[in-house]
Amino acid sequence: QVIQCMDVAEQSLQALEMLSRRHSKAILHAGGIAACLMYLDFFSISAQRASLAITANCCQNMNSDEFHYVRDSLALLSARLGQQDKKAVESTCLCFCRLVDNFQVDERVLKEIAAHGLLTGVQQLLVVTPPVISTPTFVMVIRMLVVMCANCPDLAVVLLKQNIADTLCYLLVGSSDNGASQSIELVSRTPQELYEIVSLIGELMPKLPSDGIFVVDSLLRKGSPHNTDAVIWQWKDDRGMWHPYSMIDSRIIEAAHQAGEDEVGLSTQGRTYTIDYNSMQQINEDTGTTRPVQRKANPLATPSSVAAAQGLVKSDSRADVLAENSDLASGFIKTLFAVLYEVYSSSAGPAVRHKCLQA
Ligand code: APR
Repeated sequence: QVIQCMDVAEQSLQALEMLSRRHSKAILHAGGIAACLMYLDFFSISAQRASLAITANCCQNMNSDEFHYVRDSLALLSARLGQQDKKAVESTCLCFCRLVDNFQVDERVLKEIAAHGLLTGVQQLLVVTPPVISTPTFVMVIRMLVVMCANCPDLAVVLLKQNIADTLCYLLVGSSDNGASQSIELVSRTPQELYEIVSLIGELMPKLPSDGIFVVDSLLRKGSPHNTDAVIWQWKDDRGMWHPYSMIDSRIIEAAHQAGEDEVGLSTQGRTYTIDYNSMQQINEDTGTTRPVQRKANPLATPSSVAAAQGLVKSDSRADVLAENSDLASGFIKTLFAVLYEVYSSSAGPAVRHKCLQA
């Protein structure tokens, strides 16, 4: 009888997995995550895969009112990272990457997500040979660590103390000791992998200053068509007050500006505007009312600095820890400086080289 029940459960899970691709919200709100994961250990591999795939789908676009649906499953999911089954592990990674993505501006939730061994689990998963996860998942997982460190420096400190430097060195040169005297041979990696690994090295260290010589960054970004966030557009009201456009509108205005257009159309709050770059004015298409616009360098171009401006990050614990613990700091530098230099010298792509320079 038990076997029959398990059969039915398995078939239901397969069906639910298909449904979850389109209807993940309904499943989430019905308590689907807890239900799928409750007897996970007793399921066959294929039912485990289905359960974890459903969970990953339920983690899409989750908001803070929904976090409680997954909270109690975080410990179980974290433990899953150490399993052997490729598909199950990849779905688990996807769950965490989606959660971190959804809650990246909320330091408190990021800490909750990481509180059950996620960082250790990921650190071990990255170096398993032969690899359990595919290259795209590897890139996604490192990206997740980058987002966590950038938005929650305390988590970067956890990684620093767990010798993440050795792990990263291993990922780049195939051993956790770069053999200071010998020449360094890099493991072959895709540019995307290199980009994320080097970004992570950068986010483990305190944020770069944004004054003095570092101001040059925002100047350099102006000309590059991919960095529309480095700039913020504003319009002036009747009382002479400047107001920023929404992030999306600002991006649209900036992109057309960088493309050399004379004007761009915008529809916001039910009104249609034209932004004229020559007169630097916004024109209401229905009434003809014009208002001045201006283009400002956005001092808050990175997520971590946005958080800092909102008072969410009081001090940078990465800076504190590296200042207090000079062994940790010098160990980090000894392990990674020469390797970073090698990545810089041997990488053709400007994105990877730029990240190396930042680090
Ligand atoms: N984003 C948000 N609000 C804006 C923007 C903008 N980019 N530009 C203008 N506003 C505000 C103005 O401060 C003003 O309060 O929207 C209102 C309408 O301003 P305009 O679009 O410039 O047009 P105007 O001719 O002044 O008003 C047209 O719109 O809201 C109605 O009843 C109002 O009769 C008025 C009509």
